[in-house]
Amino acid sequence: MIPFNKPYLTGKEIEYINKANSSGKLTGNGYFTSKCKKWLEINTCTNSALLTNSCTAALEMAAILADIKNGDEIIMPSYTFVSTANAFVLRGGKPVFVDIDPNTLNMDWKLIEGQINKKTKAIVPVHYAGFGCDMDEIMKIAKKYNLLVIEDAAQGVMSKYKGKALGSIGDLGCYSFHETKNIISGEGGAILINNKKLKERAEIISEKGTNRNLFNKGQIDKYSWLDIGSSFLPGELTAAFLFAQMEEAKKITKERLKIWNYYENGLRNIEVEGLISIPKLQKYTEHNGHLFYLIHKNNYERDLFIKKMSKKGVMVVFHYIPLHISPYAKNKLNFKKQSLIFTESLFDRISRIPLWLGLNKEYVLKSVIESLYEIKKEN
Ligand SMILES: Cc1ncc(COP(=O)(O)O)c(C=O)c1O
Repeated sequence: MIPFNKPYLTGKEIEYINKANSSGKLTGNGYFTSKCKKWLEINTCTNSALLTNSCTAALEMAAILADIKNGDEIIMPSYTFVSTANAFVLRGGKPVFVDIDPNTLNMDWKLIEGQINKKTKAIVPVHYAGFGCDMDEIMKIAKKYNLLVIEDAAQGVMSKYKGKALGSIGDLGCYSFHETKNIISGEGGAILINNKKLKERAEIISEKGTNRNLFNKGQIDKYSWLDIGSSFLPGELTAAFLFAQMEEAKKITKERLKIWNYYENGLRNIEVEGLISIPKLQKYTEHNGHLFYLIHKNNYERDLFIKKMSKKGVMVVFHYIPLHISPYAKNKLNFKKQSLIFTESLFDRISRIPLWLGLNKEYVLKSVIESLYEIKKEN
């Protein structure tokens, strides 16, 4: 069976883990953490980056930094991973869900302004598939209403919007290095602190609410409890693994894009025949080949496609169940019933095909085309 995902290893991971191990410094903020931090700051052109244990943790840090309090509203898409919302709900915030643009599957920025009121505190654009949201438009709205922008760029490492790294445009940006992403450390993440005013507090929050960071640098002789915070910092072994991956980020992205472009070329005609639609890149998108999705005519054909691909030995998967129709949102979030037309009409028609380094892409594409024609014949 061709799996949906297979982690790519550069071969340097164990060497770097051994190096960290023999250095005797295994907690976070050691040599490899600082290498990763520098890599992030240079490659995203941001002011400051901190490693976290996951993108979920980065989003939770962002919610603390945004000072989310009971009843504050945060505008985000419903078509996203649960952590985008959970991070804010944990602080008493209320997600306000906005529909997606069917062309990008990203939050439709034209719908944001209509949801802003006195309780609105932040906007959280999610860059689905590593394709950037229209950040100029979102930043304009945020500026007009004095709102924070927190980019959920979990899938967007090495992607750009008009030449700027995703995650580096809003006040804060959150990355994931989960095993299923392009650059990995098993579990892992980072927060980019683009708004300089938040830098000092971010370091304190990441160190359990203390100024241990200054203590480690020898700038103070004891550290104390200054703020709320938690254990957001990964250890050196994780950072060592991650740095081996970061060193090959350009190569990994290039190879993923080759597969992505191969799929796009192979499926363009099938789209013209009306069997499926494939991603449409906006002029401003420079993406990282994170995922390739197909949109089927209906849910029946999507599920049949997944079954047929499985019979041919290729694992194909669906994606997010929208948050506004989840049991938690329905039972606990107490908002007026909403209808998000495109989110609801698209989510159960989406499938994602395998995309990883070393994959037999020719076989996958051939199987996709065969399965789609079989479905056409049967209907
Ligand atoms: C949009 C989005 N945000 C956040 C996350 C959470 O990332 P992590 O697993 O690193 O916590 C994911 C995970 O896939 C995601 O897709």
